[in-house]
Amino acid sequence: MQFHLNRFLFGLSLALDCVESELLGITTHHGFRVAYLSMRLAHLLGMSEQERFDIAAFAVLHDNGLAEESLSSGLPAADRLAGVEISPVHCTIGETNIAAFPFQTHHREIIRHHHECWDGSGFFGLRGDEIPMMAQIVGFADYLDLKCQLAEPGSRERAGEFIAARSGSVFSPTVVALFRQLSANTGFWLDLRDPFITTALERILPVITQEMTWERILEISRVFSRIIDSKSRFTLRHSSGLEEKTAFMANHFALDADTRIRLRIAASLHDVGKLAMPNAILDKPGKLTDEERLKMSEHTYYTRACLEKIPGFEQITEWASNHHEKLTGTGYPMGLGADRLDPWCRLLTVLDIYQALTEERPYRQPLPHARVMELLACMTADGELDGGMVDAVGRAFA
Ligand SMILES: [Fe+2]
Ligand SMILES: [Fe+2]
Ligand SMILES: [Fe+2]
Ligand SMILES: [Fe+2]
Repeated sequence: MQFHLNRFLFGLSLALDCVESELLGITTHHGFRVAYLSMRLAHLLGMSEQERFDIAAFAVLHDNGLAEESLSSGLPAADRLAGVEISPVHCTIGETNIAAFPFQTHHREIIRHHHECWDGSGFFGLRGDEIPMMAQIVGFADYLDLKCQLAEPGSRERAGEFIAARSGSVFSPTVVALFRQLSANTGFWLDLRDPFITTALERILPVITQEMTWERILEISRVFSRIIDSKSRFTLRHSSGLEEKTAFMANHFALDADTRIRLRIAASLHDVGKLAMPNAILDKPGKLTDEERLKMSEHTYYTRACLEKIPGFEQITEWASNHHEKLTGTGYPMGLGADRLDPWCRLLTVLDIYQALTEERPYRQPLPHARVMELLACMTADGELDGGMVDAVGRAFA
Protein backbone atom coordinates (compact mmCIF):
# COMPACT_ATOMS: atom_id res chain seq x y z
CA MET A 1 0.00 0.00 0.00
CA GLN A 2 0.97 3.69 -0.29
CA PHE A 3 2.01 4.43 3.27
CA HIS A 4 1.92 7.99 4.62
CA LEU A 5 5.14 8.04 6.60
CA ASN A 6 4.68 11.58 7.83
CA ARG A 7 1.21 10.81 9.23
CA PHE A 8 2.57 7.71 10.95
CA LEU A 9 5.47 9.63 12.48
CA PHE A 10 3.34 12.47 13.78
CA GLY A 11 0.60 10.20 15.02
CA LEU A 12 3.04 8.33 17.23
CA SER A 13 4.93 11.45 18.26
CA LEU A 14 1.86 12.54 20.19
CA ALA A 15 2.60 9.80 22.71
CA LEU A 16 6.39 10.20 22.63
CA ASP A 17 5.91 13.82 23.52
CA CYS A 18 4.30 12.86 26.82
CA VAL A 19 7.44 10.99 27.94
CA GLU A 20 9.52 14.14 27.79
CA SER A 21 6.81 16.20 29.46
CA GLU A 22 6.83 13.74 32.33
CA LEU A 23 10.57 13.11 32.69
CA LEU A 24 11.92 16.56 31.89
CA GLY A 25 9.00 18.73 32.94
CA ILE A 26 8.78 20.43 29.52
CA THR A 27 5.49 21.84 28.29
CA THR A 28 3.76 19.61 25.75
CA HIS A 29 4.56 19.65 22.02
CA HIS A 30 8.31 19.88 22.73
CA GLY A 31 9.03 17.29 20.01
CA PHE A 32 6.82 19.21 17.58
CA ARG A 33 8.67 22.47 18.28
CA VAL A 34 12.07 20.81 17.87
CA ALA A 35 10.87 19.34 14.56
CA TYR A 36 9.46 22.65 13.34
CA LEU A 37 12.59 24.61 14.20
CA SER A 38 14.90 21.93 12.76
CA MET A 39 12.99 21.83 9.46
CA ARG A 40 13.02 25.61 9.09
CA LEU A 41 16.78 25.69 9.70
CA ALA A 42 17.31 22.77 7.30
CA HIS A 43 15.32 24.64 4.66
CA LEU A 44 17.54 27.72 5.02
CA LEU A 45 20.55 25.46 4.56
CA GLY A 46 19.08 24.25 1.27
CA MET A 47 18.37 20.67 2.40
CA SER A 48 16.12 18.57 0.15
CA GLU A 49 12.56 17.43 0.93
CA GLN A 50 13.87 13.99 1.89
CA GLU A 51 16.43 15.52 4.20
CA ARG A 52 13.79 17.75 5.78
CA PHE A 53 11.57 14.73 6.40
CA ASP A 54 14.47 12.90 8.02
CA ILE A 55 15.44 15.80 10.24
CA ALA A 56 11.81 16.03 11.37
CA ALA A 57 11.91 12.32 12.22
CA PHE A 58 15.18 12.70 14.13
CA ALA A 59 13.71 15.69 15.94
CA VAL A 60 10.55 13.88 16.97
CA LEU A 61 12.52 10.80 18.01
CA HIS A 62 15.53 12.57 19.58
CA ASP A 63 14.80 11.46 23.13
CA ASN A 64 13.15 8.10 22.35
CA GLY A 65 15.80 6.43 24.56
CA LEU A 66 14.81 8.50 27.57
CA ALA A 67 12.24 6.12 29.04
CA GLU A 68 14.69 3.22 28.83
CA GLU A 69 17.57 5.26 30.28
CA SER A 70 15.31 6.39 33.07
CA LEU A 71 14.35 2.78 33.71
CA SER A 72 17.95 1.52 33.68
CA SER A 73 18.97 4.27 36.12
CA GLY A 74 17.33 2.10 38.78
CA LEU A 75 16.01 5.21 40.53
CA PRO A 76 12.48 5.17 41.97
CA ALA A 77 9.97 6.74 39.55
CA ALA A 78 9.70 9.93 41.61
CA ASP A 79 13.47 10.57 41.50
CA ARG A 80 14.09 9.78 37.86
CA LEU A 81 13.66 13.34 36.68
CA ALA A 82 17.10 14.21 38.01
CA GLY A 83 18.75 11.14 36.53
CA VAL A 84 17.93 11.47 32.83
CA GLU A 85 19.59 13.43 30.04
CA ILE A 86 22.76 13.79 32.09
CA SER A 87 24.37 10.73 30.53
CA PRO A 88 24.97 9.52 26.96
CA VAL A 89 22.99 6.32 27.65
CA HIS A 90 19.75 7.66 26.14
CA CYS A 91 21.64 8.79 23.02
CA THR A 92 23.05 5.33 22.39
CA ILE A 93 19.80 3.52 23.20
CA GLY A 94 17.88 6.03 21.08
CA GLU A 95 20.13 5.50 18.06
CA THR A 96 19.81 1.70 18.30
CA ASN A 97 16.03 1.79 18.77
CA ILE A 98 15.35 3.54 15.49
CA ALA A 99 17.54 1.40 13.23
CA ALA A 100 14.51 -0.02 11.38
CA PHE A 101 12.84 3.35 10.74
CA PRO A 102 12.57 4.11 7.00
CA PHE A 103 14.71 7.23 6.79
CA GLN A 104 14.85 8.72 3.31
CA THR A 105 18.54 9.74 3.24
CA HIS A 106 21.94 8.42 4.32
CA HIS A 107 22.20 10.75 7.37
CA ARG A 108 22.85 8.68 10.52
CA GLU A 109 24.17 8.99 14.10
CA ILE A 110 22.04 12.08 14.56
CA ILE A 111 20.31 10.89 17.70
CA ARG A 112 23.58 9.56 19.12
CA HIS A 113 25.05 13.04 18.76
CA HIS A 114 22.18 15.32 19.77
CA HIS A 115 24.04 16.42 22.93
CA GLU A 116 27.37 17.28 21.26
CA CYS A 117 28.69 20.82 21.73
CA TRP A 118 30.58 22.95 19.19
CA ASP A 119 33.61 23.23 21.53
CA GLY A 120 33.87 19.47 22.08
CA SER A 121 32.40 19.46 25.60
CA GLY A 122 29.46 17.15 24.73
CA PHE A 123 28.98 13.49 25.69
CA PHE A 124 31.15 12.03 22.92
CA GLY A 125 33.64 14.89 22.53
CA LEU A 126 32.99 15.62 18.83
CA ARG A 127 33.79 19.23 18.00
CA GLY A 128 32.92 21.71 15.25
CA ASP A 129 32.08 20.18 11.93
CA GLU A 130 32.86 16.68 13.20
CA ILE A 131 29.30 16.88 14.55
CA PRO A 132 26.88 15.90 11.77
CA MET A 133 25.01 19.02 10.59
CA MET A 134 21.60 17.50 11.38
CA ALA A 135 22.78 16.76 14.92
CA GLN A 136 23.99 20.35 15.28
CA ILE A 137 20.53 21.55 14.28
CA VAL A 138 18.43 19.11 16.32
CA GLY A 139 20.67 19.60 19.36
CA PHE A 140 20.32 23.37 19.06
CA ALA A 141 16.53 23.24 18.72
CA ASP A 142 16.20 20.76 21.59
CA TYR A 143 18.37 22.65 24.06
CA LEU A 144 16.88 26.02 23.14
CA ASP A 145 13.30 24.83 23.69
CA LEU A 146 14.21 22.99 26.89
CA LYS A 147 15.86 26.04 28.45
CA CYS A 148 13.86 28.91 26.94
CA GLN A 149 10.35 27.37 26.70
CA LEU A 150 9.82 28.74 23.20
CA ALA A 151 6.01 28.55 23.33
CA GLU A 152 5.76 30.72 26.44
CA PRO A 153 5.52 34.52 26.57
CA GLY A 154 8.88 36.31 26.72
CA SER A 155 10.68 33.53 24.84
CA ARG A 156 11.96 35.89 22.13
CA GLU A 157 14.06 37.86 24.64
CA ARG A 158 15.10 34.77 26.60
CA ALA A 159 16.27 32.96 23.45
CA GLY A 160 18.22 35.99 22.22
CA GLU A 161 20.28 36.19 25.41
CA PHE A 162 20.63 32.43 25.75
CA ILE A 163 22.06 32.01 22.26
CA ALA A 164 24.34 35.04 22.44
CA ALA A 165 25.99 33.55 25.52
CA ARG A 166 26.59 30.17 23.83
CA SER A 167 27.44 30.84 20.18
CA GLY A 168 30.79 29.25 19.39
CA SER A 169 30.86 27.27 22.64
CA VAL A 170 27.72 25.13 22.86
CA PHE A 171 26.19 26.11 19.51
CA SER A 172 27.53 26.24 15.97
CA PRO A 173 27.92 29.90 14.84
CA THR A 174 26.38 28.95 11.48
CA VAL A 175 23.25 27.55 13.10
CA VAL A 176 23.02 30.59 15.38
CA ALA A 177 23.24 32.95 12.39
CA LEU A 178 20.49 31.04 10.58
CA PHE A 179 18.31 31.12 13.68
CA ARG A 180 18.72 34.90 13.98
CA GLN A 181 17.56 35.27 10.38
CA LEU A 182 14.55 33.01 10.97
CA SER A 183 13.50 34.45 14.28
CA ALA A 184 13.33 38.03 13.05
CA ASN A 185 9.73 37.33 11.99
CA THR A 186 6.77 37.51 14.35
CA GLY A 187 5.10 34.64 12.49
CA PHE A 188 7.92 32.31 13.46
CA TRP A 189 7.24 32.88 17.16
CA LEU A 190 3.50 32.49 16.77
CA ASP A 191 3.97 29.23 14.85
CA LEU A 192 5.66 27.81 17.96
CA ARG A 193 2.72 28.60 20.27
CA ASP A 194 0.41 25.82 21.38
CA PRO A 195 -2.71 26.59 19.35
CA PHE A 196 -0.65 26.83 16.13
CA ILE A 197 2.29 24.44 16.30
CA THR A 198 0.49 21.39 14.86
CA THR A 199 -0.80 23.32 11.84
CA ALA A 200 2.54 25.09 11.35
CA LEU A 201 4.29 21.76 11.31
CA GLU A 202 1.86 20.23 8.82
CA ARG A 203 2.33 23.28 6.60
CA ILE A 204 6.07 22.68 6.19
CA LEU A 205 6.44 18.91 6.61
CA PRO A 206 7.18 17.26 3.25
CA VAL A 207 4.53 14.68 2.39
CA ILE A 208 6.39 11.40 2.05
CA THR A 209 4.45 8.39 0.86
CA GLN A 210 6.14 5.14 0.08
CA GLU A 211 4.94 1.86 -1.38
CA MET A 212 5.25 -0.62 1.49
CA THR A 213 4.09 -4.09 2.37
CA TRP A 214 2.23 -4.69 5.63
CA GLU A 215 5.21 -6.77 6.74
CA ARG A 216 7.48 -3.73 6.44
CA ILE A 217 4.95 -1.58 8.30
CA LEU A 218 4.94 -4.19 11.08
CA GLU A 219 8.74 -3.88 11.32
CA ILE A 220 8.45 -0.11 11.64
CA SER A 221 5.70 -0.49 14.25
CA ARG A 222 8.08 -2.60 16.33
CA VAL A 223 10.44 0.39 16.55
CA PHE A 224 7.69 1.99 18.61
CA SER A 225 6.49 -1.06 20.51
CA ARG A 226 10.03 -1.45 21.85
CA ILE A 227 9.94 2.10 23.13
CA ILE A 228 6.50 1.44 24.67
CA ASP A 229 7.57 -1.76 26.41
CA SER A 230 10.70 -0.13 27.83
CA LYS A 231 8.67 2.45 29.71
CA SER A 232 8.24 0.14 32.69
CA ARG A 233 10.23 -2.88 33.80
CA PHE A 234 6.94 -4.73 34.26
CA THR A 235 5.98 -4.44 30.60
CA LEU A 236 9.33 -5.22 28.96
CA ARG A 237 7.77 -8.11 27.01
CA HIS A 238 4.14 -6.97 26.97
CA SER A 239 3.61 -5.68 23.42
CA SER A 240 6.00 -8.15 21.83
CA GLY A 241 4.40 -11.00 23.81
CA LEU A 242 0.92 -9.93 22.76
CA GLU A 243 2.05 -9.69 19.15
CA GLU A 244 3.42 -13.25 19.27
CA LYS A 245 0.21 -14.63 20.76
CA THR A 246 -1.84 -12.68 18.23
CA ALA A 247 0.20 -14.18 15.39
CA PHE A 248 -0.41 -17.65 16.82
CA MET A 249 -4.18 -17.10 17.07
CA ALA A 250 -4.38 -15.49 13.61
CA ASN A 251 -2.80 -18.66 12.28
CA HIS A 252 -5.23 -20.79 14.31
CA PHE A 253 -8.20 -18.93 12.78
CA ALA A 254 -6.62 -19.22 9.29
CA LEU A 255 -6.98 -15.50 8.62
CA ASP A 256 -5.85 -14.14 5.27
CA ALA A 257 -2.29 -12.82 5.12
CA ASP A 258 -3.22 -9.11 5.19
CA THR A 259 -5.55 -9.43 8.17
CA ARG A 260 -2.95 -11.45 10.05
CA ILE A 261 -0.27 -8.80 9.69
CA ARG A 262 -2.65 -5.93 10.41
CA LEU A 263 -3.79 -7.65 13.61
CA ARG A 264 -0.16 -8.04 14.64
CA ILE A 265 0.45 -4.33 14.00
CA ALA A 266 -2.57 -3.55 16.20
CA ALA A 267 -1.16 -5.81 18.93
CA SER A 268 2.28 -4.28 18.75
CA LEU A 269 0.90 -0.73 19.05
CA HIS A 270 -2.12 -1.36 21.32
CA ASP A 271 -0.52 0.23 24.39
CA VAL A 272 1.19 3.16 22.66
CA GLY A 273 -1.01 5.35 24.87
CA LYS A 274 0.85 4.05 27.92
CA LEU A 275 3.68 6.39 26.94
CA ALA A 276 1.34 9.12 28.11
CA MET A 277 0.82 7.51 31.52
CA PRO A 278 3.08 8.49 34.45
CA ASN A 279 5.52 5.88 35.76
CA ALA A 280 4.40 6.71 39.27
CA ILE A 281 1.20 4.82 38.34
CA LEU A 282 2.67 2.18 35.98
CA ASP A 283 5.22 1.06 38.59
CA LYS A 284 3.18 1.63 41.73
CA PRO A 285 3.81 -1.27 44.12
CA GLY A 286 0.24 -1.60 45.31
CA LYS A 287 -3.39 -1.23 44.35
CA LEU A 288 -4.25 1.90 42.40
CA THR A 289 -6.51 4.53 43.94
CA ASP A 290 -9.75 5.39 42.12
CA GLU A 291 -8.11 8.52 40.76
CA GLU A 292 -5.08 6.57 39.46
CA ARG A 293 -7.34 3.97 37.86
CA LEU A 294 -9.24 6.73 36.09
CA LYS A 295 -5.96 8.16 34.82
CA MET A 296 -4.86 4.73 33.55
CA SER A 297 -8.13 4.30 31.71
CA GLU A 298 -7.05 7.20 29.48
CA HIS A 299 -4.27 5.19 27.84
CA THR A 300 -6.41 3.60 25.14
CA TYR A 301 -7.85 7.01 24.26
CA TYR A 302 -4.27 8.11 23.55
CA THR A 303 -3.74 4.96 21.49
CA ARG A 304 -6.72 5.97 19.34
CA ALA A 305 -5.55 9.59 19.07
CA CYS A 306 -2.16 8.39 17.80
CA LEU A 307 -3.34 5.78 15.32
CA GLU A 308 -6.46 7.38 13.85
CA LYS A 309 -4.33 9.98 12.06
CA ILE A 310 -2.77 7.33 9.82
CA PRO A 311 -4.50 6.61 6.48
CA GLY A 312 -4.93 2.84 6.02
CA PHE A 313 -4.93 2.26 9.79
CA GLU A 314 -8.72 2.60 10.22
CA GLN A 315 -9.26 -1.05 11.15
CA ILE A 316 -5.98 -1.28 13.08
CA THR A 317 -7.07 1.75 15.14
CA GLU A 318 -10.28 -0.03 16.21
CA TRP A 319 -8.55 -3.30 17.08
CA ALA A 320 -5.76 -1.56 18.99
CA SER A 321 -7.85 1.01 20.86
CA ASN A 322 -10.72 -1.20 21.98
CA HIS A 323 -8.74 -3.74 24.00
CA HIS A 324 -10.25 -2.57 27.31
CA GLU A 325 -13.84 -2.36 26.05
CA LYS A 326 -16.30 -4.99 27.33
CA LEU A 327 -19.24 -6.66 25.57
CA THR A 328 -21.46 -5.31 28.39
CA GLY A 329 -20.51 -1.72 27.47
CA THR A 330 -18.78 -1.27 30.84
CA GLY A 331 -15.22 -1.06 29.50
CA TYR A 332 -13.13 2.01 28.69
CA PRO A 333 -12.49 4.55 27.33
CA MET A 334 -15.65 4.74 25.18
CA GLY A 335 -17.97 2.17 26.78
CA LEU A 336 -18.58 0.49 23.41
CA GLY A 337 -20.96 -2.47 23.46
CA ALA A 338 -21.05 -5.85 21.68
CA ASP A 339 -22.41 -4.35 18.45
CA ARG A 340 -19.27 -2.22 18.07
CA LEU A 341 -16.72 -4.92 18.89
CA ASP A 342 -15.86 -7.23 16.01
CA PRO A 343 -14.37 -10.73 16.56
CA TRP A 344 -10.77 -9.47 16.36
CA CYS A 345 -11.36 -6.67 18.88
CA ARG A 346 -12.73 -9.40 21.16
CA LEU A 347 -9.74 -11.63 20.52
CA LEU A 348 -7.23 -8.87 21.34
CA THR A 349 -9.11 -8.07 24.55
CA VAL A 350 -8.87 -11.67 25.74
CA LEU A 351 -5.23 -11.99 24.67
CA ASP A 352 -4.28 -8.72 26.37
CA ILE A 353 -5.73 -9.90 29.68
CA TYR A 354 -4.06 -13.28 29.25
CA GLN A 355 -0.70 -11.64 28.46
CA ALA A 356 -0.94 -9.17 31.37
CA LEU A 357 -1.92 -11.78 33.95
CA THR A 358 0.97 -14.05 32.98
CA GLU A 359 3.42 -11.17 33.51
CA GLU A 360 4.78 -9.89 36.83
CA ARG A 361 3.25 -6.69 38.18
CA PRO A 362 4.50 -4.50 41.04
CA TYR A 363 1.75 -5.87 43.29
CA ARG A 364 1.73 -9.57 42.22
CA GLN A 365 3.67 -12.46 40.70
CA PRO A 366 2.85 -13.86 37.23
CA LEU A 367 -0.21 -16.14 37.35
CA PRO A 368 -0.17 -19.70 35.95
CA HIS A 369 -2.31 -20.64 32.93
CA ALA A 370 -4.98 -22.45 34.98
CA ARG A 371 -5.55 -19.48 37.29
CA VAL A 372 -5.70 -17.07 34.34
CA MET A 373 -8.37 -19.26 32.71
CA GLU A 374 -10.45 -19.21 35.91
CA LEU A 375 -10.38 -15.42 35.93
CA LEU A 376 -11.25 -15.26 32.22
CA ALA A 377 -14.14 -17.67 32.85
CA CYS A 378 -15.52 -15.33 35.56
CA MET A 379 -15.41 -12.36 33.18
CA THR A 380 -17.11 -14.46 30.51
CA ALA A 381 -19.85 -15.47 32.97
CA ASP A 382 -20.39 -11.75 33.67
CA GLY A 383 -20.93 -11.22 29.94
CA GLU A 384 -17.82 -9.09 29.51
CA LEU A 385 -15.77 -11.36 27.26
CA ASP A 386 -16.51 -13.46 24.21
CA GLY A 387 -16.73 -17.07 25.44
CA GLY A 388 -15.72 -18.51 22.06
CA MET A 389 -12.52 -16.46 22.06
CA VAL A 390 -11.76 -17.37 25.68
CA ASP A 391 -12.11 -21.08 24.84
CA ALA A 392 -9.90 -20.77 21.76
CA VAL A 393 -7.20 -18.92 23.71
CA GLY A 394 -7.43 -21.40 26.57
CA ARG A 395 -6.88 -24.36 24.25
CA ALA A 396 -4.10 -22.64 22.31
CA PHE A 397 -1.94 -21.82 25.33
CA ALA A 398 -2.79 -24.73 27.67
FE1 LIG B 1 18.43 14.14 25.01
FE1 LIG C 1 14.37 17.09 24.21
FE1 LIG D 1 -3.87 -1.57 27.69
FE1 LIG E 1 -1.85 -4.23 27.02
